[in-house]
Amino acid sequence: MSETVRIAMISGSLRAGSGSTALLQTVAEVFEPEVVAARMYFGMAALPHFNPDDDFEPLHPAVAELRAVIEGADALLLSTPEYAGDLPGSFKNLLDWTVGGNEIVDKPTAWLNSGAPGRAEGAHAALRTVLGYTGARIVEEACVRLTVSRAAIDAEAGTVADPGVREGLRAAVGSLVAAVAAGRSAPVLPGAGNPW
Ligand SMILES: Cc1cc2nc3c(=O)[nH]c(=O)nc-3n(C[C@H](O)[C@H](O)[C@H](O)COP(=O)(O)O)c2cc1C
Repeated sequence: MSETVRIAMISGSLRAGSGSTALLQTVAEVFEPEVVAARMYFGMAALPHFNPDDDFEPLHPAVAELRAVIEGADALLLSTPEYAGDLPGSFKNLLDWTVGGNEIVDKPTAWLNSGAPGRAEGAHAALRTVLGYTGARIVEEACVRLTVSRAAIDAEAGTVADPGVREGLRAAVGSLVAAVAAGRSAPVLPGAGNPW
């Protein structure tokens, strides 16, 4: 399968110099663009607070953009820090906006953990729970911890040069790409979908 795999990437951190964001931004540097077209979504701060009353057409433009980015991708790659034992509120808000749409149903999805060993486990357990409501197809081999120290981030490029981290990214994202390729050649099965 030689088709380009389009990956939508969303960081759960709004922080400048975020390790979560740097990990995702590095993906575009470790794959040829013909193999992986990695598109970073930067609209999280512009999303309105989730309100089911507003989850109808015409959607807020920021919500429409989020859904279009996800819809247009073959796979979804997330990376988030943990705040107070859970997902950052702004990222949970973003995820809430995805539950009412069908964009993530059966989409190969993975997340990266840029924290040190033992960190952010509550956030990633919560992420797994929330993704269950979106119908995401979680690619377990692609969900990895790749610790990024603040010193390892190139402030100008916003990426990580560390060879070990880049090798880990290549393997994890390679698994996500393989899941997309397998899905392209597999028969379509009824998806789990949104339980609401
Ligand atoms: C208000 C606040 C709460 C935090 N709570 C946790 C926590 O519960 N568990 C954890 O592992 N780290 C916690 N951290 C540390 C961040 O998750 C950590 O700095 C992370 O690297 C930030 O991710 P980023 O570099 O992608 O922004 C907290 C940081 C802040 C500012």
